[in-house]
Amino acid sequence: MREAFICGGVRPPIGRYGGALATVRTDDLAAHPIKALLARHPGVDWAALDDVMLGCANQAGEDNRNVARMAVLLSGLPVEIPGATINRLCASGMEAVGQAARAIATGEADLIIAGGVESMTRSPLVMAKVNGKFDPAAEYFDTIIGWRFVNPEIKARHGIDSMPETAENLAAERGILRTDQDAYALRSHRRTVAAREFLAGEIEPVRLASGVVVTQDEHPRADTSLEKLAALKTPFRTPGTITAGNSSGINDGACALLVASAAAVKRHGLQPLARFCGMASAGVAPRVMGLGPVPASRKLLARLGLTLAQMDVIELNEAFAAQVLSVTREWGLPDDAAHLNPNGGAIALGHPLGMSGARLVLTGARQLQRQQGNYALCTLCVGVGQGVAMVLAKP
Ligand SMILES: CC(C)(COP(=O)(O)OP(=O)(O)OC[C@H]1O[C@@H](n2cnc3c(N)ncnc32)[C@H](O)[C@@H]1OP(=O)(O)O)[C@@H](O)C(=O)NCCC(=O)NCCS
Repeated sequence: MREAFICGGVRPPIGRYGGALATVRTDDLAAHPIKALLARHPGVDWAALDDVMLGCANQAGEDNRNVARMAVLLSGLPVEIPGATINRLCASGMEAVGQAARAIATGEADLIIAGGVESMTRSPLVMAKVNGKFDPAAEYFDTIIGWRFVNPEIKARHGIDSMPETAENLAAERGILRTDQDAYALRSHRRTVAAREFLAGEIEPVRLASGVVVTQDEHPRADTSLEKLAALKTPFRTPGTITAGNSSGINDGACALLVASAAAVKRHGLQPLARFCGMASAGVAPRVMGLGPVPASRKLLARLGLTLAQMDVIELNEAFAAQVLSVTREWGLPDDAAHLNPNGGAIALGHPLGMSGARLVLTGARQLQRQQGNYALCTLCVGVGQGVAMVLAKP
């Protein structure tokens, strides 16, 4: 197998639901970091790009089925460059980067742009054509997140808990206290706010049609506190522990990374941030989907002959504080482990579903380089019960 390298990446700031990026179409949002990569790497011969692979979880609206191909056309890349959209729900962005690295490792490609996109704000309402025709009794769904057009057999076999309910399941079964969840959420905001300067290194501002320029992630709250978090309602269960404050948000974002072979690094004069070691995925019961990183990481580390203790950086997506703490306690880590999400995470930054996995890889690679570490583990849980993990190494 050949080596594959992460050679940089970029993203727009993450917007809040209905916030700063609400007017930006999903396909335009996907094209934004690709255009930025083109501008940031003027020495690359872009005609040699083998593919563009983007994760996207929704794919029911302006992402137009294959948002990666739309982004190629909108970004000004030559029409000869193909594009594929990859869907592993919350891990789609990581899956895209991993599939790109695998294509390079097998020798089928040398240079790929990989990443992810999601505009949860612009997710459409969808309506069934029950009998193939418009039927006034037809169900319709908001596609922001969660189940739609539920298969009754899946419901009977696995239930259809919402994402926050799956976090309530973990909190109840594992005795994860509301106070511990809120303390973790506060930590996420504090670390993210403290890392603003570092995170700015991966952000390309967005100029809106109105002329306004969006420069900063919109979701982090510098003014939150344990008292404010403790005052939030638990709308998902009574009694419950999951709140808007100890959950990730509903957000808009995109991210694109440059993945290259050793030959492409040399040919295009690239600077590798990290080397791809491998990726693995694993399934868990949908009702405890947040545990997905545990079997995915176990499988990957065993395959690579590495241990969790060898990871200098861990980027674990923060779907919910209860979910993070379920995973870290399973790993035997303290709740405030310094090397876990050292620059904060999705509770503060937000979680644009198809984009988040690519952001974890980008931030993990940059953090690994910053601290001159050997290995980074990047991992997410996935709705409907999966986990995906990737290990990066010093190049
Ligand atoms: C939890 C969730 C339903 C909350 O949605 P919401 O109610 O629209 O959230 P909001 O941002 O409006 O927050 C609700 C309130 O809490 C407040 N709040 C949220 N976080 C806060 C914080 N850290 N500190 C203080 N207040 C906070 C908000 O200001 C708002 O107050 P208001 O009602 O007075 O305006 C939504 O974020 C969600 O579904 N998250 C999970 C996403 C998910 O499942 N992703 C996939 C995981 S695999």
